[in-house]
Amino acid sequence: MLKIAPSILSADFSRLGEQVRTVEEAGAEFLHIDVMDGHFVPNLTIGSLVVKALRPQSKMFFDVHLMIEQPERYIQDFADAGADHITVHLEATPHIHRAVQQIKALGLSAGVAVNPATPLDGLKYILPELDMVLIMSVNPGFGGQKFIPGVLPKIEVLRTYLQQRHSSCQIEVDGGINAETAPAAVKAGAEILVAGAAVFGQTDPCKAIQDIRKAAGN
Ligand code: DX5
Ligand code: ZN
Repeated sequence: MLKIAPSILSADFSRLGEQVRTVEEAGAEFLHIDVMDGHFVPNLTIGSLVVKALRPQSKMFFDVHLMIEQPERYIQDFADAGADHITVHLEATPHIHRAVQQIKALGLSAGVAVNPATPLDGLKYILPELDMVLIMSVNPGFGGQKFIPGVLPKIEVLRTYLQQRHSSCQIEVDGGINAETAPAAVKAGAEILVAGAAVFGQTDPCKAIQDIRKAAGN
């Protein structure tokens, strides 16, 4: 079953709680929370305080995407704030295994993200530890960018690799997802679709979620 993860990056931050309730009532399974540090990516967003403020507002699965250098430094903070899942970037630390172990030791679900140009090779020995791999389908840093179709073969290769190993690790695809691009991502093997502009950028986020599901065939 396909899971939709609306990204609050495109939400109206002046009424964030209300926006989160809207997508929860619309049946979104995950809430995707994009954390950017102005170093790993050329943009600054939010920190653990916002996660903490949203936690009592929602029962959704909080899917925290850390686009920050040396994410090890902040994992504890996001866990304390109420994250259910933390994804760290393969490119953001020389100690990806340590970061993943840290997330899991706190009882959270753990994921590793790879940028569009990053091959899957670096994941090989960490894959059995992971609950999720996040395939970036835009260069991280901003919402509302165009889906990069060149990542589709990467999703397919990962799907085949996981299937052959009977792995329960899930594939999340993030960036430029809408009703037009979702079908190809799902066909390639995505199980979780992040959507920012295509959900919160729309006048009716509830309908937008339904449209993505319908287009993707579930
Ligand atoms: C990009 C972020 C994405 C972004 C997706 O750096 O990781 O989660 O919010 O936004 P859209 O769906 O608008 O591409
Ligand atoms: Zn993201």
